[in-house]
Amino acid sequence: MRDAALQAIEGAQTLEALQAVKTHYLGKKGELTSQLKTLGSLSPDERRARGAEINALKAELEAAIETREAQLKEEALQARLASEAIDVTLPAPAHPVGGLHVISRILGDLEEIFERMGYSVVEGPEVEEDRFNFDALNIPWHHPARDMWDTFWLEDGRLLRTHTSPMQVRYMLAHEAPLKIVVPGKVFRYEATDATHESMFHQLEGLVVGDHISMADLKGTISEMARALFGPKAKVRFQPSFYPFVEPGADFAVWWENPRGASKWLELGGCGMVHPQVFKAVDDLREERGLPRAYEGKTGFAFGLGPERIAMLKYGIPDIRYFYQNDLRVLTQFRGDL
Ligand code: PHE
Repeated sequence: MRDAALQAIEGAQTLEALQAVKTHYLGKKGELTSQLKTLGSLSPDERRARGAEINALKAELEAAIETREAQLKEEALQARLASEAIDVTLPAPAHPVGGLHVISRILGDLEEIFERMGYSVVEGPEVEEDRFNFDALNIPWHHPARDMWDTFWLEDGRLLRTHTSPMQVRYMLAHEAPLKIVVPGKVFRYEATDATHESMFHQLEGLVVGDHISMADLKGTISEMARALFGPKAKVRFQPSFYPFVEPGADFAVWWENPRGASKWLELGGCGMVHPQVFKAVDDLREERGLPRAYEGKTGFAFGLGPERIAMLKYGIPDIRYFYQNDLRVLTQFRGDL
C-alpha cells in the first residue's frame, strides 16, 4: 500500500486530484484509517507494533502530500504569472494631448508670411483707451463712424478694443519711420452673434510707414499675402470703402473657388493709405510726451483682416460661432501640431 500511495501522491497533477488521493488513504473511510480500525482485534503486543507501523506510514504520507501540494501550488502560480504577463512592447493606450487652435494656426501662418516680407510682429493691450481706439484714429466722440464699432465700455471709462488699429497709434508714438509691423490679437464688438458675427474675434493689423509708400505697395502686399495663403492663382479684388483713419480706403476680397458650391468673393478686411489726420494726432501725442514730431510728410498704408474669415474660407467652416464653442469635434478636426 505504501508504494501505491506514494506513487498516487507523486502522480497527482492538480490540487483536486491530490485531495482525492488524500481522502482515499487518510479520509474517514480511507484505506489507512480502516486499517487503524482493525487494531482492536489484535493482541496488545501486535497492536502496539502494528499501530506504530501504521502511524509512521500515516506521517510519511502526510509529509509527501504536503510536499506535493507545495509543488502543485508553485506550478499553478508560475502558470498564472506566465498567462498574465504584461507585454511591455505593446503600444500604450493613447494619451490625449492638445493641439493648436485653428485660429492660432492661421495667425501663425500670417505672422510667418509677413516676417518673410520684413515685418515685425508686435502686440497691444485688449483693454484700450478711448483716445487710441477712436480719437487719434480720426474718429472723434460725436463722429457717426463710431457706430461702425459697437463698443464694450468698462466702468473706468476704458473699453475693450474694437479693432487692432489703436496699435498703429501706440507703435508710432514709440517708434519713428520707416516701420513695418503686423499686430495679431483679439478684438471685441458689442453685437448680436450670428453665423458671421461674434462678440470676440481676431484681427491682424498691418502698418507700413516711410517715404513714398503708395497704394501700389499696399495692393502688392495684400496680393502677395493672398497668394501665400491660398496658392499662386489666388485672385484679389479691391473696392473703395470708408474708414476714418485711411484715405483713400478700400475693402479687399479673395476669390473663393468653392469645390462644393457656388464660388464667390469673400471679404477679408479693410485697408487704405494712412490718413494725414492720424499722423498729426500721433505727432501731437508725441509732442505732449516731449518727443520730436516725426510723421509730417510721411506716407504709409494700413490694413486689417480677420483670421476667422480666412479659416472659414480655407476650410469651408460655415459658422463663425464654431470657433469658440470648444466643441472637441471641431477643435480636433482643424487643429495643428503644437
Ligand atoms: N480697423 C478696421 C476694422 O476693424 C480695419 C482696417 C484696418 C481698415 C486698417 C483700414 C485700415 O474694420
